[in-house]
This record gives sequence, C-alpha cells and structure tokens, in this order.
Amino acid sequence: MKNIEDLRNEIQQFKISNAEELEQFRVNFLSKKSEIQAMLANIKNVVAEQRRTFGQQVNELKQMAQQMFEENKQKLENSVVYTQSETDLTRPAAAVETGSLHPISLVMNEVCSIFENIGFTVVDGPEVEDDWHVFSALNFPEEHPARDMQDTFFIDVRPDIVLRTHTSSLQVRAMEKQKPPIRVICPGRVFRNEVITSRSHCIFHQVEGLYIAEKVSFADMKQTLLYFARKMFGEETKIRLRPSYFPFTEPSAEMDIECKICGGKGCSVCKHSGWVEVLGCGMVDPNVLENCNIDSKKYTGYAFGIGIERMTMLKYKTNDIRLFFENDIRFLQQFQSASF
Ligand code: PHE
Repeated sequence: MKNIEDLRNEIQQFKISNAEELEQFRVNFLSKKSEIQAMLANIKNVVAEQRRTFGQQVNELKQMAQQMFEENKQKLENSVVYTQSETDLTRPAAAVETGSLHPISLVMNEVCSIFENIGFTVVDGPEVEDDWHVFSALNFPEEHPARDMQDTFFIDVRPDIVLRTHTSSLQVRAMEKQKPPIRVICPGRVFRNEVITSRSHCIFHQVEGLYIAEKVSFADMKQTLLYFARKMFGEETKIRLRPSYFPFTEPSAEMDIECKICGGKGCSVCKHSGWVEVLGCGMVDPNVLENCNIDSKKYTGYAFGIGIERMTMLKYKTNDIRLFFENDIRFLQQFQSASF
C-alpha cells in the first residue's frame, strides 16, 4: 500500500514538456516493464483479504497514468512549433504581376465611348464575311477595279467568302436589321493583303460609324467628326477634309488632323506636311441604302471609318505599326498606367 502511495506521487509530479519526457513517462508507468505492470502481475501473492483493495488501487493508478499520458500527448500535438520565417508577418508578399490593356484596345475603347456619349450604339459581327456584306451591298460592282483598292484575302474553296477588309460590313448588317434613325459604330479587326512596313500591316483595326435619318447633311458629318477629333486630341485640334473616292459614299472625303508629333511643323510621320490622314468618310450612296431596303428618297446619312492604328500612333507618339503586333512585354508595359 505504501508503494502505491509513493507511485501515485511520482506519477503526479512527473513533468512532461516535450516528446522525450512523454516517452519516458510511458516507459516508466505504462510499459510492460513498469512498476504498475509488476504490481498487477504480483496480485496473486497479496494476502487474500487485501487482494481486492490492492487490485482496485493499482488499476486506479494505471488509469490515472493512462489519462495523464493522453492529455499531455494531445497538448504537445496541438502546440506545433513554428520556425521564424513562417511567422514573420512583416515579410513583404511576392509581387503580383498585373496585366494591362493593349494600346489598340485603349484607343478603340476611347473612340467608342466618345461616340456612345453622343448617341451611337456599338455593334459587332463576323470577321469572316460573305461578299455581299463586304462589297456588293456597298456598291462595289462585280469585277470593278474598286475591289482592288482593298487587297482582299479570299478563302480558296469559297470565293464568295472573304476576311472582311473593313467593318463597313457591320454597317450593312445594321441597315438590314434596323429601321432609321440608325446610329451605330462598328469596332473590329480587319484584314488586307498588304506588305508589312512601319506604316502598314495586313491586320489592323477600325471603328466605323453610320448615321441614317431624315435630312442628315454633310455639315452634320463634318461637325460630328470635328467634335470627335477635339475630344480625342484636345480642344484646339484642327481638322481638314480632302475630296476622295469610295464606292459606297458620294461625295466622299478623307479627314486629316494636325500632326500631333511635330505640332504641325512637319516631320517624318506626317511626311513633312503637318497633317495626318486618320479617316475616310462621306454621304452614304443612295444605291447602298436601296440595297439594304432603306428609302433613299426619304433618308440620307453619313458614314466614316477610323483607322485605329494610325490614331494610336498619333496619340502615343509611336513610329512603327509593327510594335502593336509583336507584343513585346517591354513595349506593352509602358501602357500599364494608361486607362480607358
Ligand atoms: N470603309 C472605308 C475603308 O476601310 C472607310 C470608310 C468608311 C470610308 C465609311 C467612307 C465611309 O477604307
């Protein structure tokens, strides 16, 4: 009985603060070689009248040791020790690389939003188009040399299907679907079989516009385009219109703006003229309206087509169109803070 009392004290006072001490506790009090085990094995040698109490007390001791072992084991497992680097909350996080909009997207968005603010609606459509929407409906006669103006990519097996050479095809689609008044802008990618140089590419982008209603005049067009140029390049911006030719407009014009690179003094970008061509425009030819089932006696309209690459080069003072397609990250990163 005295041994039991001593053993109880010994168990209660055993300090367990790490894994080794826990193992020592197990060996001392719970293993086959432990004193408690020896006592249980010896129970038959205890005098009969004390055997029952002795057995009970040794069992209690064993349970107590078992419980202490489990409790301490849990405690140690829960207190995982972290190393310094894992808990250093002041350490700066790894930088997250953010992307940015491509300069062409920035300018397309800006052009669209200027026109949206004055009542135009954006329309979208296919890049692979049929001949009707790209040429025939737009008053390009069959076999007419005007089709050569836009060096077209044809699909070998389907000569009636082309990669659209301008987004005027979307204007045709809008006229076929909507009733006047129609006020749409058509942003998109276009394709022409052209030699790639610093000034031209076989893939580029346009935002074309169309306004059809009663009594729309050339003066309306000129004022709208002046408004656009000033929103895009500043209130002092000057424009000029030169006579031109497109099969789908009559009269037709090309619009220049004062060169923003040299401020109108003359440089290589404006070919020393002080002016840069940025868009084609004109009054929609009555034949085009009739092709789209719009009464050309009642309605008139104007259309324009803006070359986005040219705009972007002027806006961001870029001297080589190929930079927009190479996607060199060092070039694109310069537009990270630009937004539209
Ligand atoms: N579609 C013409 C082009 O791509 C531009 C344009 C549009 C001209 C509308 C006049 C009117 O060159």
